[in-house]
Amino acid sequence: MFFRSMKISDTYRVIELLRQIGNADFVPPSKWWFAIRLLFPTFHVFVLEDDSGAIVAMVFLNLLSNPKYGWRGYIDYVVVDKSARRNGFGRKIMEGTLARAKKLGCQEVLLTTSNPDAQALYESLGFRVRSGRNFSKVISESCGF
Ligand SMILES: CC(C)(COP(=O)(O)OP(=O)(O)OC[C@H]1O[C@@H](n2cnc3c(N)ncnc32)[C@H](O)[C@@H]1OP(=O)(O)O)[C@@H](O)C(=O)NCCC(=O)NCCS
Repeated sequence: MFFRSMKISDTYRVIELLRQIGNADFVPPSKWWFAIRLLFPTFHVFVLEDDSGAIVAMVFLNLLSNPKYGWRGYIDYVVVDKSARRNGFGRKIMEGTLARAKKLGCQEVLLTTSNPDAQALYESLGFRVRSGRNFSKVISESCGF
């Protein structure tokens, strides 16, 4: 397994994975949206390759700063290819994302989910319910600027 940042040439595969989210109302962004957003230093998409080099999972990480809480990472769109689920890829891409968020200076990471399978994964990685479907995990004690 290989965790890395998305390249522009991965766009079609990433859009394919986004279509697997399971929400009928969800329309994935266009390739142009990715082309522009990937230039932002606060926007990250990570992918996970299996041992054959195929992309099997993806995740978004958005960084936002706040004078009280410092840098926070917002994790969105954690998706593992339907045919590859239950093989540890979800855990692996989340571990990679948490490590990268820490390296990027995030003191805390947040996410929202209503998927009970995903919730079990996040809780096992140390996320705790913040309110309703919102979860967070402190990754550095030195909060604030
Ligand atoms: C949620 C999702 C990312 C999990 O990916 P995965 O590769 O199947 O997960 P893993 O194999 O790494 O499993 C990690 C943990 O997740 C939980 N889990 C994942 N799938 C599960 C299932 N079908 N039933 C119960 N628990 C499940 C378990 O706690 C598991 O730990 P365990 O293997 O020790 O039991 C994947 O099912 C997915 O892409 N779902 C659709 C998109 C989605 O809902 N994403 C979350 C939005 S926030």
